Amino acid sequence: MIVLMISLMQYALAYELDVNTFSNYLDVQNRHLHLEWLLNMDKKYINSTSSYRFQVVGRSINKITLDIYKLNIYSTYLQNGLSLSHTIDNPYEDSDQGSRLNIQLDKTYYKGQYIELSIKYSIDSKSRSISFMTKEQTSTKTMPYIFSQCEDANCRALAPLQDTPTVKQTYTATVIFKDTEAADVFMSADESKEEFQVLYRPKDQAGFTWKYKYFIQKVPIPSYLIAIVAGNIKKVPTSTGGRTFLVSEPDKTEAYTAELKDMEQFMQAIEQYIGPYTWGTYTLVIQPASFPIGGMENPLLTFANPTIMTGTGSGLDVTIHEMAHSWFGNTITCVNWANMWINEGFTVFLERKASLFHYQIPDEIKLNAIIGNTSMYQDMLGFGLDSNFSSLHPDTTGLNPDDSFSKIPYEKGYQFLAYLESIVGEADFKQMLRAYLVQYKYQSIDQQEFQNFLLRYLYEKQVDDFSTKRYKILENWNKWVYSPGLPPVILDFSTPKLAEAYDYTTAYITADGQQPTKWQNYFTFLHSQKQVFLEDLFKQAQNNLLKINVINQMDKDLKLTEEKDFELKFRWFRAILTAGDKTRFTQISDFLGSVGRGKMVYPVYRALNQLDHDFAVKTFKNHEAFYHPIAKNNIKNILGLKENIIQ
Ligand code: BES
Ligand code: ZN
Repeated sequence: MIVLMISLMQYALAYELDVNTFSNYLDVQNRHLHLEWLLNMDKKYINSTSSYRFQVVGRSINKITLDIYKLNIYSTYLQNGLSLSHTIDNPYEDSDQGSRLNIQLDKTYYKGQYIELSIKYSIDSKSRSISFMTKEQTSTKTMPYIFSQCEDANCRALAPLQDTPTVKQTYTATVIFKDTEAADVFMSADESKEEFQVLYRPKDQAGFTWKYKYFIQKVPIPSYLIAIVAGNIKKVPTSTGGRTFLVSEPDKTEAYTAELKDMEQFMQAIEQYIGPYTWGTYTLVIQPASFPIGGMENPLLTFANPTIMTGTGSGLDVTIHEMAHSWFGNTITCVNWANMWINEGFTVFLERKASLFHYQIPDEIKLNAIIGNTSMYQDMLGFGLDSNFSSLHPDTTGLNPDDSFSKIPYEKGYQFLAYLESIVGEADFKQMLRAYLVQYKYQSIDQQEFQNFLLRYLYEKQVDDFSTKRYKILENWNKWVYSPGLPPVILDFSTPKLAEAYDYTTAYITADGQQPTKWQNYFTFLHSQKQVFLEDLFKQAQNNLLKINVINQMDKDLKLTEEKDFELKFRWFRAILTAGDKTRFTQISDFLGSVGRGKMVYPVYRALNQLDHDFAVKTFKNHEAFYHPIAKNNIKNILGLKENIIQ
């Protein structure tokens, strides 16, 4: 009995720590957050009061420390009115991780007790979470626009928080805004039928009235899933089924809803594999073009980049991916950013299961895995094959965890799960994942806990050959997780479609500026096959095998410079710039000024910078105002403009 208790205690204490938070979250944890936000969208600031219900989980405490990044803190006080003193310090000299807000409590609080306190503060345009856009930067050009992006450690730029995925809390919010500055506001929460008590009601003035919206997220979530969008935006249903919706600027509604008509079917394809969607509704926000990433799985309210709307449905895998996060990431969450594959690897795994149900083409999934593997390998080369950032367990002590962001948690994580599935068997693996979701619902865990669960599950289910399976699972586990570089086991995703794509490149290169006989094959390629071909073209360019006459012939035949699908277009531009082509700079500059999605602009800036640094810098300066702060900072780094500090 005593042995059991000790081992259970170790169990409970065994989760990994989060090195990227300054909060004392092992002593005290927030259970509920209430935000009252007064938006000043034109003037680019938000006046805010945040209120917390903290519970002591350690033995005793007399202070609470929170993460902040460039927030203006005005006062801290207990909800009974008693003012509390606070200080701010920077544990690391380089403030990229932000600062620490230390709140001195009025007395010692003991395990189990609650502390209800509030903070008055404001957010301004220095925020790296909120993008404040002028009306000129939107599509309808009628109202300013704001959106947030919190993952991974940017939530501290939205509110003083325990900015760690370990801590989950429910949240409510009151958002107050001028009817002339926003047609509507949405958060990653349900709209509340109940109105909350409001601390400060601004007075109406001539020309506008203040509007109030109330939100409630009753599921405990990590702080990186708090999100807001406001502007001239409109919400409409996308398909029958009643639970999927689109939010976008009104001039885009019609085209987007047409392309999103199968959203309900996507959801059903995922549910067929993993079980019911339990969050209620699902809304996709198509953001303005400066949105810095492809998609973000804010609960009930996914944000996505307009490049996913290609007109052909080819970008919708991003929607399936973000939907799949409702299970992996949002229901079960990684305990820290070193375990990001607990979110992303599992999500890619589920995404590929569901897109198989949907598209019915196994080759498409295989090719996606191959493309993913290629970009993972490029990221590894970027970090160094022996860097721990090339492992499934990067160490980001003292850094912004974003610095370790790469395709590795996605693709190595995916491959690891595909490998485990091959040991366990498809049917048992699926049941295991379903049971895992039940077991850890609304919790945050690390990879060791997943291993414990997997082995326990197989043992309890008395699966055939348990001891052999156990041996195989454990044999390479630590190599998969901790070793840098390519996985210890190479999986086979080969398909004849791959050779077809490579042969196509070869045909063009050997035709040496003439039209190869099978040039029209491109138009029958799978979308992923086109990407493989363009990736291959880039490789040929790196090896000095792509000549300008070949580029010109291809462009004449395939119209790639005019391509509307940016997933293809950015690969084309990267390949031709790497080949030394300087004749399409105007189109490339236009492209770089019309999309802010990092995946698409960073590789093109990298290639442009190598070919013509001055033109790359000039192009960036031309478009600088258009980019999101995160993208701006990354592009500056690529171009060697050195400033690390986000402006
Ligand atoms: N959760 C991620 C986005 C993210 C990860 C933001 C880490 C900040 C830090 C999201 O689910 C995602 O993976 N988006 C991808 C698209 C997806 C289809 C692979 C993206 O934005 O490219
Ligand atoms: Zn993801």
